[in-house]
Amino acid sequence: MKTKIQELKQKFNIELADVRDTKTLEELRLSFFSKKGYISALMKELGKVPAEQKKEFGQIINGFKQELSDRFDEARRELVEREEELAVNCAEAYDESMPTVNPGGSYHPITLIQRELEDIFRSMGFDVEDYNEIVDDYHCFEALNIPKFHPARDMQDTYYLDTPNQLLKSHTSAAQNHIMMKYGRALKEQNRPIRAVFPGRCFRNEAIDACHENTFFQMEGIMIDKDISISNLIYFMKTMLSEVFERDITVRLRPGFFPFVEPGFELDIQCLICGGDGCPSCKNSGWLELCPCGMIHPNVLKYGGINTEEEPYQYTGFAFGLGLTRLAMMKYGIKDIRVFNEADLNALSQFVSK
Ligand code: DAH
Repeated sequence: MKTKIQELKQKFNIELADVRDTKTLEELRLSFFSKKGYISALMKELGKVPAEQKKEFGQIINGFKQELSDRFDEARRELVEREEELAVNCAEAYDESMPTVNPGGSYHPITLIQRELEDIFRSMGFDVEDYNEIVDDYHCFEALNIPKFHPARDMQDTYYLDTPNQLLKSHTSAAQNHIMMKYGRALKEQNRPIRAVFPGRCFRNEAIDACHENTFFQMEGIMIDKDISISNLIYFMKTMLSEVFERDITVRLRPGFFPFVEPGFELDIQCLICGGDGCPSCKNSGWLELCPCGMIHPNVLKYGGINTEEEPYQYTGFAFGLGLTRLAMMKYGIKDIRVFNEADLNALSQFVSK
């Protein structure tokens, strides 16, 4: 029995030396003190010991039990202290203001192209503006010379909210009125031309295929000053596109009808995916409608509080609505518009800013 106790002491010492946390310590404690533990086994053996030796062995086992339980208590105290200290130190080491290091992250291709365009337009003196996604009928249509029941509304069927008169904007042109109101005074009083671009998410009730999405991005731009003409419009469009594609690209201008511009144009670029031969992305035409544009209709200027007739404030301006999503398809060679909204990280993480 004495040897047995000696062996158990040794076992205990060896195992305790390896214990690093309270959980393992508890496991060790149970291996000695639980019903099926070593101490219970010793007590059972005590039953077999001759009666005259029982007292002596009983005292030895009790002493052993006491010694073990003291050492467990002491070890637990030390471990708890150490664990608490560690938790406090870790909390101190964590600094929530530190930027996250996430080497796996990347920007969405639309974000990349939008930022690039913002930089280009800023360098040409444009302000970059933001606007709501939920707008009212007036801003989306009426203020753009598209009265109720005008056939041009058919092209822009969108999503209407239950709240009366609220809808998801079908084009970034919806912000034109707001921008004119915001900068009109500086134009009149300080001769500061209005030059602004406003990128944004747009929505349309569309049947989805390789070139149509119900959610897409545009970047609208307007410039208003005295003597603004179509030449200014063409100059800005050409400069911008040559910056984006870092080469000369082939463009064509066609007449186009939009109620908020007069005259109105469609600026097309030759499809960079098929080089003009025809493919699903360009509906086999070889051309991609990239940027409808035109001279802002006098009614729209009037609704925006901009003078068009009264001397000396005869202002004119141009506007354009760049298809950001389309532009990203062209620039990155993305053949299917659905890639943008599918959240497939394998596809979306391939794009890097230049
Ligand atoms: N808002 C039009 C659309 O989404 C595009 C557009 C056409 C914008 C002509 C313009 C413009 O600024 O001048 O269909």
